[in-house]
Amino acid sequence: GAHLNFYGSMSNDQGHLKIGGVDAVELAETYGTPLFVYDVSLIRERARGFLGTFEKMGVNAQVAYASKAFSSVAMYQLAAQEGLSLDVVSGGELYTALKAGFPAEKIHFHGNNKSPAEIEMAFDAKIGCIVIDNFYEIGLVKSIAESRSQEMHVLLRVTPGIEAHTHDYITTGQEDSKFGFDLKNGQADEAIQQLSEHRYVRVLGLHCHIGSQIFETIAFKFAAEALIQKMIQWKDTYAHTSTVLNLGGGFGIRYTDEDQPLNPSVYVEEMVGIVRKLSEESGYPLPEIWIEPGRSLVGDAGTTLYTVGSNKTVPSVREYLAVDGGMSDNIRPALYGAKYDAVLANKLDEPRSFNYTIAGKCCESGDKLIDRISLPEASPGDILAIFCTGAYGYSMASNYNRLPRPAVVFVEDGKHQLVIRRETYEDLLLNDLPFTMTERGDR
Ligand code: LLP
Repeated sequence: GAHLNFYGSMSNDQGHLKIGGVDAVELAETYGTPLFVYDVSLIRERARGFLGTFEKMGVNAQVAYASKAFSSVAMYQLAAQEGLSLDVVSGGELYTALKAGFPAEKIHFHGNNKSPAEIEMAFDAKIGCIVIDNFYEIGLVKSIAESRSQEMHVLLRVTPGIEAHTHDYITTGQEDSKFGFDLKNGQADEAIQQLSEHRYVRVLGLHCHIGSQIFETIAFKFAAEALIQKMIQWKDTYAHTSTVLNLGGGFGIRYTDEDQPLNPSVYVEEMVGIVRKLSEESGYPLPEIWIEPGRSLVGDAGTTLYTVGSNKTVPSVREYLAVDGGMSDNIRPALYGAKYDAVLANKLDEPRSFNYTIAGKCCESGDKLIDRISLPEASPGDILAIFCTGAYGYSMASNYNRLPRPAVVFVEDGKHQLVIRRETYEDLLLNDLPFTMTERGDR
């Protein structure tokens, strides 16, 4: 049907949803449900879109995949294949990336409270750069570099006083954020002074991340402007020249018809345009421009397949349709009120003449995946496909109610491959130890 077009999905002659050329109903039968299915060709297309735009504009760039959106060995290997760099935010993500064989020199380490052990790990692996977030971390990085006599490249994360939320943005004198050095009250200046001309720690430049699921290019433009102006100022004041300007991620995607995202290349063109203009005007050497998309690389490539089970009618209010997953594999509706679109993957050709609320199976009233959706009349055993679950779905999954986490499958050109196996009940007990304290005698 026409409603599927913007996902690039199609139905086959049995009226089944196809993802990456594979029948979704067959995937559900083969791997079970709930199941995350990623269309690899879409991820490649998004990556090439970003990289190609930078190339076309003749700027040196790095496009780092913000792997918090979805991290796994296979995903890291796909990112490497596509020439992406990598944003990791924990020892766990770094460990996984290294085990996947991701080139260390293209890894950027983020986070507002990296532990000494995590920073040591970054030095051991000789990663590309650490994005320094605060004064405590400046001290840690300096002393670890000195004790090892080892060089480390760093970026300084700054908070430019621009807060962007989906459809609007605000500029403030000072943003109330736990991340980064404030740009406008001297914190960032203090940070560069503490690091300038250090023997081992080299400041490549500045980083900011102004929010997520943003549609306004103007917010990125303002951020780019604020950062390049600071860099120009530091050249005069501290004789420090930055070679890298990292503008973070946050490019919005289309979850439902309410969202009207721009082509990702538009964001890149705007950013590059303003940086180039200001650097030319001031004679400042054009820096490399780095970005860190997470959601916009993997979000719409992911679909979750569920099996429909029970239903309940609340007369004249709504009809609940329950599926075999829920907030344990997608916390976003419960946490943010996030909206999704869905279809019955085995009934694509039937008219959507019923209105349902999609409930999960977790023991919590708020465990609803979709508040209202039109679908064909559903019965137990139908396969519900929820679109655009590729970012912050599996990565935020939990074992709430001791539900095993789903499997993840990659599909491309009619081929499919299991990349994360479904957790088993035995897996749930892997870290559990028996109770060994003897009963107290005083009762
Ligand atoms: N860079 C930094 C420093 C970030 O903090 C983030 C996301 C990104 C890049 C990637 O942003 P993206 O392109 O994916 O919007 N759990 C929330 C999203 C949290 C995003 C946190 N930071 C959600 O499910 O909507």
